[in-house]
Amino acid sequence: MTFYDKPWEQDEEYLELISDLIDRPEVQKLDEIVHHHHTTRLIHSLNVSYNSYRIAKKFGMKSREVARAGLLHDLFYYDWRDTKFEEGSHAYVHPRIAYENALKLTELSELEKDIIIKHMWGATVAPPKYKESFVVTMVDKYCAIKESSTPVAYKWRAFRNRSAH
Ligand SMILES: [Fe+2]
Ligand SMILES: [Fe+2]
Repeated sequence: MTFYDKPWEQDEEYLELISDLIDRPEVQKLDEIVHHHHTTRLIHSLNVSYNSYRIAKKFGMKSREVARAGLLHDLFYYDWRDTKFEEGSHAYVHPRIAYENALKLTELSELEKDIIIKHMWGATVAPPKYKESFVVTMVDKYCAIKESSTPVAYKWRAFRNRSAH
């Protein structure tokens, strides 16, 4: 069960931008992985991609790259709770793995690379080079908080609706 609306399903213009990526098995596999407790890594990736895309479009930024790199920013399959890397922390390593995996699916511009590699800014040191990367890293954090807490909000809404009747 998902607690989310999926507004991207009604947005033809957005769906067109990710049409060559979304049905790839490497992307669909993310739907089997629980992410932020209550959602899948695919739904999280679509949330980040779509919300970032809408902001980018509104402010005249490069919305196509934001949509695509947003979708691919967490393209990794390991469980961070039981996988450790010598190269560094999960926050440092998983954007690099996602970038390598994304490269196997599509070409990536410098901007798209920056969006994926820097999306953990705050937990990692190197700051985003582009305003589009900044949007994605902020939306990623916002979605992480929202996704982790949505069932509480969902239960509260249900409780309030019940009390109102
Ligand atoms: Fe991530
Ligand atoms: Fe993420």
